[in-house]
Amino acid sequence: MDMSKLAARLAEAGQSHILQFWDQLSPKEQAEMSLDLTSMNFMEINTFFKNAMKTSGQCSQEKVDSRMEPVPREVLGSVTRDHESLKEWEEEGLRCISENKVAVLLLAGGQGTRLGVPYPKGMYDVGLPSHKTLFQIQAERIRRLEQLAENQHSRKCCIPWYIMTSGRTMDMTKEFFLQHKYFGLKESNVLFFQQGMLPAVDFNGKIILEGKGKLAMAPDGNGGLYRALGTQNIVKNMEKRGVSHIHVYCVDNILVKVADPAFIGFCSLKGADCGAKVVEKMNPTEAVGVVCKVDGRYQVVEYSEITLATAEKRSTDGRLMFNAGNIANHFFTLAFLKEIVSIHEPQLQHHVAQKKIPYVNTQGQLIKPGKPNGIKMEKFVFDIFQFAKTFVVYEVLREDEFSPLKNADSQDGKDNPTTARYALMSLHHRWVLNAGGNFVDENGTRIPAIPRHGPAGTVTPEVSQNLKDGTDLPIKCEISPLVSYGGEGLEHLVNGQAFQPTLVINESGVHELVKNGL
Ligand code: UTP
Repeated sequence: MDMSKLAARLAEAGQSHILQFWDQLSPKEQAEMSLDLTSMNFMEINTFFKNAMKTSGQCSQEKVDSRMEPVPREVLGSVTRDHESLKEWEEEGLRCISENKVAVLLLAGGQGTRLGVPYPKGMYDVGLPSHKTLFQIQAERIRRLEQLAENQHSRKCCIPWYIMTSGRTMDMTKEFFLQHKYFGLKESNVLFFQQGMLPAVDFNGKIILEGKGKLAMAPDGNGGLYRALGTQNIVKNMEKRGVSHIHVYCVDNILVKVADPAFIGFCSLKGADCGAKVVEKMNPTEAVGVVCKVDGRYQVVEYSEITLATAEKRSTDGRLMFNAGNIANHFFTLAFLKEIVSIHEPQLQHHVAQKKIPYVNTQGQLIKPGKPNGIKMEKFVFDIFQFAKTFVVYEVLREDEFSPLKNADSQDGKDNPTTARYALMSLHHRWVLNAGGNFVDENGTRIPAIPRHGPAGTVTPEVSQNLKDGTDLPIKCEISPLVSYGGEGLEHLVNGQAFQPTLVINESGVHELVKNGL
């Protein structure tokens, strides 16, 4: 190791403080630290910081209201408003899948700090009867979809699954998949790659130390995807496999329709290079980004960037005018991604997230700050909408497709394991009803088909009370993705029958757990 060179590079970048504890480190710690530092470009980090602070300063001052336009109807597809086109879109999507043109790309590099578990979020079990993890649910949806496309087109096909991890999640994620034999998928069709990491810095751009020999590193945001696609040769891999349509999604949405054929078919038939799946924003103050046009270009505008008056504006149909709630669920063509990687990625600015970052003080003691003491720099996956030539928006129902797992369980909580579990069981309950099945209680009395809890992601006061009482309200019903991807194929299993919860439908059949003494 050439310490003098490293020290000179740090001095040039104004980051010499990083080595303040160097003499107190063991030879092993010194070797590790110098390895970490050698690969880092400190001047680049300083530039990222300057640009991010400049952009964030501009954003916090200026509201974009006067420059905003809602999504025009002609680029919008909607599962409710365009019901008659759904079949055509779905068939097109299944055709693309059967021709091996479709890949899915999972964003799973986040730290999941709000959930607070020491392992990657995809390994989380929200407490379903099957105790399947988020990773398993997604893997099984992919398997079922491959089968549906194969059945429809009588040819074998595969949907490669690209999984973006980070330095924080890579090893545990890979190990988990190995341990579970890739949940029945072919190992060669599950491809892991790693996004970049950046050091957290204080408000003056000085890199924060989380240990005497350790920088406070964090993944560079889910928009770190675009740099990683290039550096990790993922674009090349997709090209080699003949992939042309990519569905990108987040690990934490338990309802995610991985490689949704209707969404893919809609985007494909519209000739789109970029598409965003959205759900209707529920109320003006809901803290969700909305997809809209700003200065004629598509982007996601955060709630904090608009005035309440604009957030409250309604169209003639009574809906919020800016109601296309972004759920980080996107379609891209490979050609578009190639252009992003080779041309636009370096122009994307980092966003600033103020955080409480544990640090060592000059005495070498670890301090956990009570208020934000620095920033993490992150790019966002939707930052590239502005470069799309043909952008489309696809609106789906929140209760069918969106229930993210963000927080740990708490009373009256939002987006937590309980709300995720309820959302999935409530969806599966509706599938059974739609397929002609019914539910009865232990006395054989029909249970009314009334949804008993609020929209996906929320817990109503009634549910909260029942949680306190220990009563789990939604009808307990779980259908394996290996049996049904989106509610199809259930009639022959449930039509005309009454079930006593807990109902589990999986590859081995239909099971009423109570009756079976399970
Ligand atoms: P979130 O922004 O909700 O972050 O990520 P998170 O890491 O899951 O949770 P918190 O904020 O620390 O509590 C949305 C999606 O983007 C992915 C996450 O894994 C999740 O699927 N993500 C986030 C990345 O892939 N990389 C990142 O650097 C950040």
